[in-house]
Amino acid sequence: MRYAVITPARNEAANLARLSAAIFAQTVLPEQWIVVDNGSTDGTADVAQTLANGRGWIRILSVEGGSSAERGAPVVRALEAGIDALFRDPYARQLAGDRGIQIAAAMPFAQRHSWSYTARTWLVDQVIEREVQQGADMVINLAAGLDCRPYRMHLPASLRWIEIDLPDMLNYKQEVLAAERPLCTLERVPVDLKDTVGRRALFQRLGDEAKHVVVVSEGLIIYFEAEEAAKLARDLAAHSSFRHWVTDLTSPALLKMLQKTIGGALVDAGSPLKFAPPEGPEFFAPYGWKSVETHSMLHTAAKLKRLSFGMRLLSLLPDPAGRKPDKPWGGVCVLENCGEALTT
Ligand SMILES: C[S@@+](CC[C@H](N)C(=O)[O-])C[C@H]1O[C@@H](n2cnc3c(N)ncnc32)[C@H](O)[C@@H]1O
Repeated sequence: MRYAVITPARNEAANLARLSAAIFAQTVLPEQWIVVDNGSTDGTADVAQTLANGRGWIRILSVEGGSSAERGAPVVRALEAGIDALFRDPYARQLAGDRGIQIAAAMPFAQRHSWSYTARTWLVDQVIEREVQQGADMVINLAAGLDCRPYRMHLPASLRWIEIDLPDMLNYKQEVLAAERPLCTLERVPVDLKDTVGRRALFQRLGDEAKHVVVVSEGLIIYFEAEEAAKLARDLAAHSSFRHWVTDLTSPALLKMLQKTIGGALVDAGSPLKFAPPEGPEFFAPYGWKSVETHSMLHTAAKLKRLSFGMRLLSLLPDPAGRKPDKPWGGVCVLENCGEALTT
C-alpha cells in the first residue's frame, strides 16, 4: 500500500505532535507527509521542522495566500499512484508544484471529494481510448491545463493531440515537461477560448486537417456563462469532423453546493463557478450536440471503490443522469455532433 498524507495546519503545534505519534505508529508509513503551515503563530512550523529532520518523506509548505482553479486536479492525479491506481500520471506532482499542494490543502472539501476528479479522469480516459480504437485521428483538449494524457496514455504515435489553453499555462507546462517526450504527436496552441474569432480560426484549421476528432473539455464550461457555453458548442458543431465531445457537467443543485464550499476561494481567484444547465446534457441539443452517454461521477467512483462509507450509501440512490436540476449530480457526458446548430 502506498499513500500520502496532507495536513493543513494553522496554530496546531500541540496537535501536530500528537498526530505525528499516530502516523509514526502506522505499520506502513506514508510515502509523503506534507504539512501545510497556514500562517501559524504558535510554532507549528518549528514542530513540523523537528519532525521532518532526518525524515525525507516529511515536507513542510507555507501557504502564501490566493488560490487557483487549475492545480487541484493534478494534485489528485499525483496522489492516484497506489498499487490499485486507475491511472498513473508521473508528471502530475511536478506540474502541480508546491503551490498545487498548498491549494489542495487549503480546500479540505475538495480533498474529501477527490474521488470525483479520479472518476472524471478515468471516465474521460475510457472515452478517449474507445474513440482512438474507433479511428479517431485527433484529440482536441480544450483548456488542457496540466493534463498529461499525451505522455501517460497508450496512444498511437500517429494520433494528433492538440492542447489549447491560455499562453501562461502552456508556457509553464512546456517548461516543466521540456525534457519529456509525448507518445503521440502533440501540438500546444495558446488561444483564449472566449475569443470567438481566434477559436473559430483554430477550429477551422483543425477541422480541415483531421477526419475524426474527439473534443475533450474538463473543468472548463463550469466557468462559462450559459450563453458562452452555447456559443462554444455551436462553434464546435460547425465542423463535421468533430464527431464527439466529452465534457464534464454539473447539475444546478451541485453547483449551489460547490459555490457554498469551494466557490469562495474560486471567486477570490477570479474563476467563479457559473454553468449548470437545468436541462442537463440536453442543453447542448439546439447548438448541434446530441447527448449519447452520461456517467455519474459518484456512481463511477463507487464502481471504482473510491468512496467513503457515507458516500457509498448515497451512491445506492438512482442516478438522475444530470436531468434532475434539484438533485446534486456531477458527471461526464459524451455528446455527438448532429451537424449545424438549430439556431444561429
Ligand atoms: C480547472 S482547469 C482544468 C484543466 C484540465 N482540463 C484538467 O482537467 O486538469 C481550467 C483550465 O482552463 C484554462 N482556461 C480558463 N479560461 C480559459 C480561456 N478563456 N481560454 C483557454 N483556457 C482557459 C485555465 O488556464 C486552466 O488550465
